[in-house]
Amino acid sequence: MEEKKVFFFEDYFLAPEYVFQPRPETELLVETAIEHIKEYIYKISKPKKDKFVIVDVGTGSGCIIISIYKKIERMLNYLEIPYKMIGIDIDMKAIKIAVHNSKTFNSCVDFILGNLLEPIKKADFIVSNPPYVSLKVKDKITVSDPPHTIFGGEKGYEIILKLIAQAYSVLKENGFLIIEVGYDDLKFFALEELKNEYKKEIFSFAKNIGLKIFPPVNDYNKLERILIFQK
Ligand SMILES: C[S@@+](CC[C@H](N)C(=O)[O-])C[C@H]1O[C@@H](n2cnc3c(N)ncnc32)[C@H](O)[C@@H]1O
Repeated sequence: MEEKKVFFFEDYFLAPEYVFQPRPETELLVETAIEHIKEYIYKISKPKKDKFVIVDVGTGSGCIIISIYKKIERMLNYLEIPYKMIGIDIDMKAIKIAVHNSKTFNSCVDFILGNLLEPIKKADFIVSNPPYVSLKVKDKITVSDPPHTIFGGEKGYEIILKLIAQAYSVLKENGFLIIEVGYDDLKFFALEELKNEYKKEIFSFAKNIGLKIFPPVNDYNKLERILIFQK
């Protein structure tokens, strides 16, 4: 196992070059998810029969779901809420790294090879930092991460729309979908028109499908980075 480690949220995660390198902006996704998960948990009436399920789609090194696990596992145990946490990735190499990280932190998270939410029947929370960069900026950026971890399609939002559609059928009533996006970055490439289209397509798709839309959360550069939807 290669030893390249990246600091994320509160710990170092194994993340060799062939998996996506965890980024600081994704810590905001973790913080936002934890905040909403805590609020949601308190509203769960006890005793609870079905498990509280959190799914991380496109888990990569597993840094998001493991960080969430570390923050809320004690609370779930204290409240005697049965739970299941799952990380999914289409790349077996990423799954192996996520499993390794999970063992390192002694976390109880299952990692599954799969395409988006296909392996999942029901979930309370879906979190994701999906590939969201437009292929239109391919020649304008230099990143060492594998292309399938970065690019979401010609426009960039193609995978996000698929994820929203699947999330709607997988989410339990009042469940949340929390995703990281990067449409505001497009303004740095003079792609203002695509930026507006990107945002409009996501929000109108989510609204038409029947999801409630929360205000986006801005990152430290005042760019809209985290989107929150509720069923
Ligand atoms: C931007 S990376 C995020 C990795 C990690 N969650 C993080 O934030 O550091 C996107 C991840 O999605 C995975 N991925 C791409 N297409 C996918 C698909 N159709 N289904 C599941 N995972 C996918 C990639 O392999 C990659 O690990």
